[in-house]
Amino acid sequence: MNNAKAERLDKLLSNLGYGARKDVRYWIKEGWITIDGEPATSPAQKVLADQVLLDEKPLDHPHGLTIIYHKPLGTVCSRKENGRLIYADFPDRWIDRKPPLSAVGRLDKETSGLLIVTDDGILNHQLTSPKKHICKTYAVTLDRPLQGNEVELFAAGTLLLEGDERPCLPAEMRVQGEKEATLILHEGRYHQVRRMFAAIGNHVTGLTRTHIGALSLEACDLSEGDYKVTTAEELMALVSGDA
Ligand code: URA
Repeated sequence: MNNAKAERLDKLLSNLGYGARKDVRYWIKEGWITIDGEPATSPAQKVLADQVLLDEKPLDHPHGLTIIYHKPLGTVCSRKENGRLIYADFPDRWIDRKPPLSAVGRLDKETSGLLIVTDDGILNHQLTSPKKHICKTYAVTLDRPLQGNEVELFAAGTLLLEGDERPCLPAEMRVQGEKEATLILHEGRYHQVRRMFAAIGNHVTGLTRTHIGALSLEACDLSEGDYKVTTAEELMALVSGDA
């Protein structure tokens, strides 16, 4: 996304999370901002992001930001929840960006794994809409041994979760051990994996998202809390298995 549109210097910098408009006035006074190599003269100056250097450095992803992130256990995706935010793993200014960076298909505080964080609303929709058929794969550890009927129950497309009006879409489960399974979902409901196992009398004790479509956490080679910047195009290619 390179929406090369001239905008006010102070608005551009504050939307990228650099600071308030009064900070921009100060940086101009100190000569820390240049536009095409010339010192900036006014916060109201209309500029293109690529013309601007702040402290001799280009601006931080001014045309949109999408990252692939390995969410650690114990971090929360939403600013409304209590706990350590995922934003603590990113540069400080990112939490103040507008449009905001948000997690695509949130993971619970006690779930780790692959998470896309983006400010691109179209990409967010493409990754989450069931119509786009991008499945999500989870590695599940359970409190009690599997009974043997779970694969059929989840595949049937009849499982009704507490409080929901429609049954879950068919999901594929593979047994990995006495208390371990892989579950592939084609939709993303609130706490879905935990609620699916709760609905059949079990309890999830460990949950990691290992894949989003064809993109695998292992292939990303990211430690917990690490991330890498990508683009919407590259991400869609990775997720679709075209990369
Ligand atoms: N299902 C859950 O129960 N939790 C998650 O974080 C993701 C899917």
